[in-house]
Amino acid sequence: MKILVVGSGGREHALAWKLAQSPKVQRVYVAPGNGGTALDKRLSNFPSSDPRVLAAFAEREKIALTVVGPDAPLADGIVDLFQSLKLRIFGPTRAAAELEWSKDFAKAFMQRHGIPTAPSVTCDDAAAAHARVDAQFAASPGVPVVVKADGLAAGKGVVVTTDVDEAHAAIDRWLPADASGARLVVEEFLDGEEASFFVICDGRSAVPFATAQDHKRLLDGDLGPNTGGMGAYSPAPIVTPDVHARVMQQIVRPTLAGMAGEGRPFTGFLYVGLMIDPRGQPRVVEFNARMGDPETQPILLRMKSDLLPVLEGALNAKLDEVEIEWDRRTALTVVLASDGYPSTPRKGDAIHGLPKAESDDAVVFHAGTAQVDGTLVTDGGRVLGVTVLGDSVKMAQKRAYAMAETIDFAGRQYRHDIGWRGVGRR
Ligand code: AMP
Ligand code: GLY
Repeated sequence: MKILVVGSGGREHALAWKLAQSPKVQRVYVAPGNGGTALDKRLSNFPSSDPRVLAAFAEREKIALTVVGPDAPLADGIVDLFQSLKLRIFGPTRAAAELEWSKDFAKAFMQRHGIPTAPSVTCDDAAAAHARVDAQFAASPGVPVVVKADGLAAGKGVVVTTDVDEAHAAIDRWLPADASGARLVVEEFLDGEEASFFVICDGRSAVPFATAQDHKRLLDGDLGPNTGGMGAYSPAPIVTPDVHARVMQQIVRPTLAGMAGEGRPFTGFLYVGLMIDPRGQPRVVEFNARMGDPETQPILLRMKSDLLPVLEGALNAKLDEVEIEWDRRTALTVVLASDGYPSTPRKGDAIHGLPKAESDDAVVFHAGTAQVDGTLVTDGGRVLGVTVLGDSVKMAQKRAYAMAETIDFAGRQYRHDIGWRGVGRR
């Protein structure tokens, strides 16, 4: 079989790497891919992100299955396009992916179906948004207010603040007086610890995939600006068996039933961003209609089963026959980012010191890299994801950081505390 993976980040490198290990797979194409997918002999890059060009490629090359990594092509309807051409593709339709691309849709959906999340209002009118912010601060002084832009914002569309002026400034930015059609969500603050909870869905039912914890801030100690994610580890110890059961029962099952009932059955990976309160009650912070990046990297290193039959099981609505085996160890990814990330990532710096060979329990996944005249150079904000397995979070940290230190490029930056919440707990 030939497989096509759509995207160019660390998540897509990990998906392609994993699918290439399947005995049924002859070749994996990555579109457009990166420097790492170009170097790997089992993978080939195809230089396009245009859904129509990709569909023509899939037809011509007789691609047996296309797997979509990022959110943008899903929101653009790549799955609908492929389906209309009778091409097999794994991911949600545009209508199902609205759970991610519209915060307003997601919040209203959760309200309709009684799915636990922060109370919120959606405003298309700046005056109403300003009034809601003032009312929330008046009702709960000292508690942060959360303001979110409605569309896909690559993690930059959320302000969580106790500063009244900052909350009002976010409204001015995202809902200016002359903006017609713009919307934002003002919601209550949720206290607790976050986790990423992944399930794989066939439109009716879901099987748990894995849990992870991401590190969104740039700097150690969860300080500095938000990023796409500076590292992750899996599993997330905060998701105890009791929390896991509550997520499946109170969130995942009603979400799938609700989506099917509303005529938008969800097929694909569903990413439930959770806030788990001190009493173990999970609430939804956000839904994503895809795997996480960098969470995919540690999760797939832990996955012992072949990924291909799992995806096929979901596409054939036979998930009940699917069983997934996981390595019991902890997997941990440290992201090496470029100079200037996240605001102005510098490109073109030569990368040195990558390990010559990969092993079963340590892989460097590429993200923002490119091959230029035979040299591997930085080509984006998040450059590499050093991913290892260890018997505990601490052991995994030790190995990952020893490996990270040997890899060098000008301006390299990384966090030194990935996994800190899990140390001693697992
Ligand atoms: P989102 O784009 O909705 O995932 O929000 C980005 C980040 O903002 C989340 O990962 C949380 O850290 C934080 N956040 C969003 N909504 C809330 C909330 N209601 N309460 C507390 N933190 C939140
Ligand atoms: N790591 C966060 C995300 O993929 O959205």
